[in-house]
This record gives sequence, structure tokens and C-alpha cells, in this order.
Amino acid sequence: MIHAPKICVVGSINMDMTIQTRQMPRQGETVLGQSFALYPGGKGANQAVAATRLGAKVTMIGAVGEDEFGVTLRKHLQGEGIHTDGVIKNSEQSTGVANIILSEGDNRIIVAPGANAAVTEEVIDRHENIIQQSDIILLQLEIPLTTVAYAVKKAKQYHIPVVVNPAPYQHLPKEIIQDTTYFTPNEMEAEAMKKEAASSSIKDKMVVTLGSEGVHFYEDNMKKKVHSYSVPVKDTTGAGDTFNGAFVTQLAQGETLSRAIHFANAQLHYQSRKWGHKQACQQ
Ligand code: RIB
Repeated sequence: MIHAPKICVVGSINMDMTIQTRQMPRQGETVLGQSFALYPGGKGANQAVAATRLGAKVTMIGAVGEDEFGVTLRKHLQGEGIHTDGVIKNSEQSTGVANIILSEGDNRIIVAPGANAAVTEEVIDRHENIIQQSDIILLQLEIPLTTVAYAVKKAKQYHIPVVVNPAPYQHLPKEIIQDTTYFTPNEMEAEAMKKEAASSSIKDKMVVTLGSEGVHFYEDNMKKKVHSYSVPVKDTTGAGDTFNGAFVTQLAQGETLSRAIHFANAQLHYQSRKWGHKQACQQ
């Protein structure tokens, strides 16, 4: 493929409100944190940024509220070179936010989707041309599941491969299971999927990210493993998103599944160190 791969990310845009603390609070407990920062986030937006930084031409379909966070996040996406024609403004709900606690090299996240809930089937219809002109579609589950199912159906209609990152996990309707090209769950999400779908039917579509254990996938009916790299952990937020953005960039360029996974796995480790979550929004 000579041209830059064209990727459509249909997904969430959040402002991440991140507190770093030495001690994760227990139920009912208050602890003192060390720092607070606002970062542009949302699984969809993070994945779009990763793919763009790797040379893809990315268009995002998503939603922000008519508020300061919405303005900041749209500017952030545009500053990264992402096409935002498909990002609508919703006057009824505030921009999505994520409450993130960073502690002991790991995180806990609660997302209040807000305007992300406004990414409806009608929004997909309005931007159908973006889907039609893409080499691949990438979705996650921070927008309504009905919209995810609809976008997957549209992709199928145009014979465009589609990757679903099933996070945060929700029960997936049969149509999504059938028509998705690849799923990129983490270990817990993969377990939940296996319980719900006949695992033999989804085995070949599963690219399971296992953190420090690397990535599992099936090729020629055999389970394969790509080992992780050892890097100092600062902030794991968005590591999976980097994997997804890199993975689709490679698939869209016609790489094999195995090569796309190796590349994405390496990017995850290299880029999490390089990009981290340093790109604070200037408020
Ligand atoms: O995957 C990390 C992302 O999950 C954060 O940026 C947060 O916004 C949530 O969507």
C-alpha cells in the first residue's frame, strides 16, 4: 500500500482527571495523593492518537459536550493531526470524564461517558462516507453498544475489516461477535468473552493482551505468544490503546496478523515510555 493507511476510529473522547498516590484507597478510606493533572484521554481518542503518530490518516467519529473540556479535547485531536469532521458537539451532556487513580505501577479508572453516549446510529449514518472510505475501522465500548453493533454492520456492508477492543467489557451481541474481524481484549475481557461465546467460534479472532505476559493469538490453528519487553513502569494508562492504534495501522497496510501483533507489542512498550501520559492539557 503506497498511501498512508486510512483509519476510522469510532469511539470515546474523555478528559482524564488523574491523581497519583502512593497508596490505593480502600473502601471507605481517604488517602492523601501526591499530584493531580488533567490529560486528554478516552480509549477512542488515545487509539486515534497512537495510529496518527504512526503515520496513519485517522478520522474520528465521536462526541464532546459544549463545554471547556470539549473545546480543549477537540483542539488536542486536531493538534495531533486527527480529522475531527466526525466529532459532534452535544449540548445536552457534558464531555466524558475519567477519574483515574495511579498507584503502585497500576491504575483504577471510572468513566462517566457524558457526551460519548450521544454517538448514536444516526451519527454513524451521517458520517457513513468516512467509514466507506477507510481501510479499517476501530471501535471500543465507551460509546453505546448499539452504535458499536451498527458500525460493525456498516463495515461489513462495505467489506471493511473491523477491530473491536471490548473495553470496558459488556456482553457482546451475536452480530458483533460474528462480523468483527479481530477482538483485542485483555485477559479479563477475554475470559468474559469465552464464557459468553463458544470459544471455538471466536478463537481465531482473539488477540489477547496480557500485560507483562505479552500477547496471545491463534495462527494456523495454533496458539502463539508474543513476549513483552521489560521496561520501567511509570503509568500503564493507555498502554492497551497504543497497542490497538499500532495494530490497526499495520493491518490497514496489509501486514499479516503475526507481524501486526509483533509491531504493536513493541510500540506498546516503546511508546508508553516515550509518550506516557505527559501530554497534559494546558488549562
Ligand atoms: O484506556 C485508558 C483510557 O480509559 C483513559 O484515557 C480513560 O479516559 C478511559 O477511557
